[in-house]
Amino acid sequence: MKKEQVVNCQLSVWYPIFKKHTIKSLILPLPQNVIDYLLDDGTLVVSGSDHNTQQTHTNNSDSDVEEDVQWSDDETTSTVTAPEFPEFTSKVLEAINVLGGRVFPKLNWSAPQDANWIALNSSLECQSLSDIFLLFKSSDFITHDLTQPFHLCSDEDSPNPPINYELVLRKWSELIPGGEFRCFVKENKLIAISQRDYTQYYQHILKQEQHISQAIQAFFSQHVQYKFLDEDFVFDVYRDSQGRVWLIDINPFGEVTDSLLFTWDELTSSGEISQQQGVPAFRYTTSEVTVQPSPCLSYRIPRDFVDLSTGEDAYKLMDFLKLKRNQQADSDEEEETE
Ligand SMILES: Nc1ncnc2c1ncn2[C@@H]1O[C@H](COP(=O)(O)OP(=O)(O)O)[C@@H](O)[C@H]1O
Ligand SMILES: [Mg+2]
Repeated sequence: MKKEQVVNCQLSVWYPIFKKHTIKSLILPLPQNVIDYLLDDGTLVVSGSDHNTQQTHTNNSDSDVEEDVQWSDDETTSTVTAPEFPEFTSKVLEAINVLGGRVFPKLNWSAPQDANWIALNSSLECQSLSDIFLLFKSSDFITHDLTQPFHLCSDEDSPNPPINYELVLRKWSELIPGGEFRCFVKENKLIAISQRDYTQYYQHILKQEQHISQAIQAFFSQHVQYKFLDEDFVFDVYRDSQGRVWLIDINPFGEVTDSLLFTWDELTSSGEISQQQGVPAFRYTTSEVTVQPSPCLSYRIPRDFVDLSTGEDAYKLMDFLKLKRNQQADSDEEEETE
């Protein structure tokens, strides 16, 4: 994967090409002070005063200054002022309005999917800039976009292409996870399709396997093939209840993109995936037995705790038990010396 390929996968690059086949979106340039605010770990307060009723700590509804409570070391609560971006805020609110009042937010490449648990509604649906900021400030995926967009690129020694950071607002759409598929394109050929939410078994996919695969192939050859700036890429689609296929996202063809029910080894080494007469390999979860926990579960609490609780990492569990035993021994000793 080259840096150029990552550049081409920014929504603002592909959106104009595929506008008719994707969810309506508006793109707003992110001012540098907003980027700084998003990257500042110290600012716990969520900015974005926009007269949203969800804000609980606004001191005075007539005032433009939003105050909020921040944790401090001495356990007294101090009042700090969240940074304000009045011009940007009004642009965002206008865009949200144009998109029907509910939006799905992204940066150039990523949505803050790892942070949905922090939102009041446990969803990425946003109605205000403060909803968006809360998700963005809590998301490692967003930080990744801001700090290391070219991670894992093979041409790592070449200078990074300049990036103009953007807030992408997409019209909120209730997508049924069983209708989402990821499609892998190599040398302009659709080689593989995977169910996107592979953690669940969807009976309708099993039943309509042929239909779904054909619909996606037709969508690819009519609307996508040779139209993107690259010949290797990964695109995500949604097949709605009427059977119409929509483009959801385009991602780089490489390790940074989750290969879902395939492996990158299979996808990159030719001939590994059995393709019969140019028909892409189609994989989906086939039974309840293989149902797995949500991949974003691990973002909710420290990874170590997840490993411990699932028994995933036996060594961690052993270390943890040893630690406990030593702590016990220490406190026993202390009791004896007293
Ligand atoms: N406009 C939207 N409204 C509601 N949910 C959406 C919308 N766009 C995407 N999603 C959901 O969010 C998921 C991630 O979206 P996507 O754009 O692919 O982000 P990322 O590239 O960060 O994975 C999708 O699989 C879909 O379930
Ligand atoms: Mg994506």
